[in-house]
Amino acid sequence: MTPKAVTVGSVILLGAPGAGKGTQAKVIAQQYGIPHISTGDILRDNVARGTDLGKKAKAIMEKGELVPDTLVLDMVEDRVDCPDCDRGFVLDGFPRTAAQAEWLDRFLTTRTFAGRHLPPIVMNFQVGYNQLLQRLTGRRSCPTCGRIYNVYFQPPRREGVCDFDGAPLIQRKDDSEEVISERLKNYERQTLPLADYYRRQGRLYEVNGELPREQVTAEVLSLLERLRGEQ
Ligand code: AP5
Repeated sequence: MTPKAVTVGSVILLGAPGAGKGTQAKVIAQQYGIPHISTGDILRDNVARGTDLGKKAKAIMEKGELVPDTLVLDMVEDRVDCPDCDRGFVLDGFPRTAAQAEWLDRFLTTRTFAGRHLPPIVMNFQVGYNQLLQRLTGRRSCPTCGRIYNVYFQPPRREGVCDFDGAPLIQRKDDSEEVISERLKNYERQTLPLADYYRRQGRLYEVNGELPREQVTAEVLSLLERLRGEQ
């Protein structure tokens, strides 16, 4: 697919753990040729490389708690200042607290995309509890290319192996039932209120994340086309 070289601005994907943010963020990034910025992926990469940030984040992430705002904000600020963000970027897993959302609002008032100030496009993926549990316990990912699979919903052609590059698939450490329950509690307490925050700004678009992956993608891409045209 040749990416559409248009100005998109910032796209924020909100939703519970397992709601499909990462799955859809990858499609949007590919469709428009803009970066997919996943704070979870950046943190996991820091943990794997044993950086100072990774050392601070590791135990917190393994418990399913949120990494302190100060660490996350420095990390995001560095990433969104990169030249590949000129036409826009997709945020997956950020913002996640009121302080992060307020920081992002301030940042976006100073930031231009191809010379224009653009408000964020915010999508909220709604998925019920039982479906979230199945998605998270069944998730497997490729450590080489980042593709996401699910043993129940999107199994690889050959069990345990990436269709694309043949690497053995891995399960995330925080996808155990005990940690999932902690992550869902923290989501309800700290991140769910952000839906109201953006609803009050008139920027929130609800997406039925429970539909099959291709149908969610179709809804997300058509919403983006429409909203971009209105900008
Ligand atoms: P993070 O990596 O952001 O995890 P998360 O928010 O818990 O979200 P997930 O990645 O688990 O789910 P997703 O919505 O992306 O779903 P996916 O597309 O993979 O964060 C991890 C940790 O890092 C946090 O707990 C925290 O400690 C820290 N952290 C990160 N950001 C932070 C921040 N801003 N502030 C502080 N701390 C932060 O899909 C899930 C599964 O479902 C897959 O198997 C997929 O194949 C399947 N699936 C997807 N869509 C569908 C569909 N429509 N139908 C059927 N199956 C589907």
